[in-house]
This record gives sequence, structure tokens and C-alpha cells, in this order.
Amino acid sequence: MGAVSVFSLSRTIAGLALAALALTGCGSSLDESSGSKAGGGQSGDAVKIGLLVPLSGVYAPIGEDLRAGFQLYLDQHNGKLGQRKVDLVTADEGEGPQTGVPAAQKLVTQDQVSAVAGVVNSATALGLRDFFDESKKPLLIANAGADDITGARKSQYVWRTSFSNGDVSAALGPAVAEEVKGKVYLIAADYAAGKEMVAGFRKTFEAAGGKVAGEKYTPFGKTQDFQPYLSAIRKSGADAVFAFYAGAEAVNFVKQYKQFGLAGKTSLYGTGFLTEGGALAAQGTAAVGVKTSLHYSTELDSAANKKFLGAYQKAAKKPPTVYAVQGYDTAAVLDKALAEASGDSGDALVKALAKVGSIDSPRGAWKFDADQNAEQQFYLREVKSSGGTAVNAVVGELD
Ligand code: PHB
Repeated sequence: MGAVSVFSLSRTIAGLALAALALTGCGSSLDESSGSKAGGGQSGDAVKIGLLVPLSGVYAPIGEDLRAGFQLYLDQHNGKLGQRKVDLVTADEGEGPQTGVPAAQKLVTQDQVSAVAGVVNSATALGLRDFFDESKKPLLIANAGADDITGARKSQYVWRTSFSNGDVSAALGPAVAEEVKGKVYLIAADYAAGKEMVAGFRKTFEAAGGKVAGEKYTPFGKTQDFQPYLSAIRKSGADAVFAFYAGAEAVNFVKQYKQFGLAGKTSLYGTGFLTEGGALAAQGTAAVGVKTSLHYSTELDSAANKKFLGAYQKAAKKPPTVYAVQGYDTAAVLDKALAEASGDSGDALVKALAKVGSIDSPRGAWKFDADQNAEQQFYLREVKSSGGTAVNAVVGELD
């Protein structure tokens, strides 16, 4: 489905969902599960929060990490945010807006949550923007990087604790232009995030004198065999590759890059999602040498990260990821905002969100910028083998 039809579909659904919201009295009905008035906003009352993450599709592993990070923060705070018991309602975003938009609308209109957190896919985030803007409910995006969400289509009700696609990829451009003297081939998943990751990288890479050998987008969620694309890369004579893939797609791309014989000859760069967490574990040593930009690494040497690493590893029985950190930080943001807000109407919450200040995160301290996006440090990472385990070593800071 093209972008236009997704938007018109989500606009129609948004209209129906808003009508349903009006019929239910704008969220002032009794919340049976907590016994408190949903949207009543009495401090000490339970608060209902929606968590929208992919529990199915190629991004399911990402959704699982994000949820585990959010849950860890909750568990560390006796199940409370802003001193209020949290009634967490989790919904499946699936693989994109067709599933994610109706799931979010159900959280707001039927479950009557006070805010929704989560959203992994950029296309879902774009499809949800108008619904949250019009229903005046806060949406805290904990992953999806769609540039316009905190740019041209910014809304006072939509906040982002993660990154924007253009920023995380632009951070890498100058470093690659400096390291690679020849041409770079650009390849990504064919949807909003892939396009924006490539555009962000290309802009700073070319501005720094870099040359592009070719550009290709592969069908999102459907490509398992990357051979034809790897062949095209080899034919182009590129000296290096910049790629955006995440989750299950990242596993296949990096493994096949090595099997095809490109690894070691044609340097592979990307945004850090390419070699993150479960993807890196599945790629193993096939990923060694891949260099990426990201706002987190398990290898960050800070007290906040060490504390988080220990607690997450204990709870989840695996190392954390950037997605887990984003989930954890989103809960931290809500904790501060709910403590500050007078009532939990959307307007009270967004007023409080503007006052949360600096978040002391495992990624390093960050805060919201004027566009309600995370302002943070990006790191240059390189996959190295540490005692047989592949890790994203931090090799520098990016401007
Ligand atoms: C996105 O769609 O914005 C997206 C998805 C997965 C990632 C990063 C960005 O790892």
C-alpha cells in the first residue's frame, strides 16, 4: 500500500475513532481494572498507559526489547510512575500502519489510556500523528524515527524519546567520507525509515566530499534473499556500503554480505540498528568490522550504563539494546511528567512533558529539544570480537 492510501485509510479510521471517543465522553468513564476514574488525574490514583510495540512481524524482536526496558523501569519503581500505580495495556503494532493505527486507536478510545508509548515503525508513527493531535492524547514515540514527526508535521501531543532517522544517519556521513576514499553504495529497506536514513547519510556524506556509487531499496519485510542486490553492489565497483536494516532483515543482510564475499573487501557501514542486540547475536562474527552510528552501545563506560546493564541482564537474561534503553527512558520520562502534571488530561501531561529536563540515561544524559525530539550524543561503533562474542565497541563520538 502506498503512502497516500495509508494516510487516507488512517484518516478515515481516525475520524471514526474520534467519533467513538466523543460518544464515550472523552475518557471520563470508570476504569474497571483499576477501579479509578480513567483520565481523572487524582495524584495517587492508578494511571492507565498504553504500550504499542510490534509483537509480530520482522520487528517483533525490537518490540520485545522495548517492552522489556519499559517493564524494567516499572519493576524498579514498584510498578509506579509519578507515584501512581500503572495499569499497563500492551497492544501489537504488527508490521506497519495497517495493524498499528487501529491498535493505537483502540488503546485510546476503548481502553481509555491516558497516554500511549512505543511505536517502532516510522510508517506507523506517520499514520498515527493526526489521530493523537486531534484526540489531544500524548504519544511518546520510543523508536520510530520518521523525520516529519518532530519536523514538518510536529504536534504538541507527540514527543520522541529515541532519534530521528535523518539525525542518526547524518551523524555518520562525514566519518565515512573521511575513511573511504572511493565510492559508497546506499541500500535500505523500502519504506519511510529506509528512505530517510539514506537521505540523511547522503546529505552529510556528499557535503564532506563523498561520492555515491548507487542507491537501492529492497521490499520491506519481504526480502530474505539479498543475493541479487549484493551482486549489484559488486558490479557497481563500490568501495564501501551504507545500509539501513533492522531486526530480522539486519540478520539476513549482514550474514549474506559475508557469505557473498563482500565483507573485508567492501567496508560495511550503517546506522547502529544493523548490528544491534539479537541481530548481532545471530550475525556473530559475520558482523566483525561493521561500523555504525548510534546513540547507545552496551560497551559505553559509564556508571548509569553499568547499573542498567546488570539489572537488565538479570531481568531479561540477555544484554540490553538501544530499543530497551529507549523503552526504559520513556518510562523515566513518564515518571517525571506524571509527578509534575496536575491531572492526566492530555493538555496537563504535555505541559509537564515540557518540564522533564535532563534524563540521566544509560545512553548518556539527554533532553527534549524544541521540536520534542531527543537531543543526544551519537557514537561511532565498530563490531569487534570480545572472547568470541561480537560486541559494538565504541570507537568515537560523532558531531
Ligand atoms: C523506523 O521505522 O523508524 C525504524 C525501525 C527500526 C529501527 C529503526 C527505525 O531499528
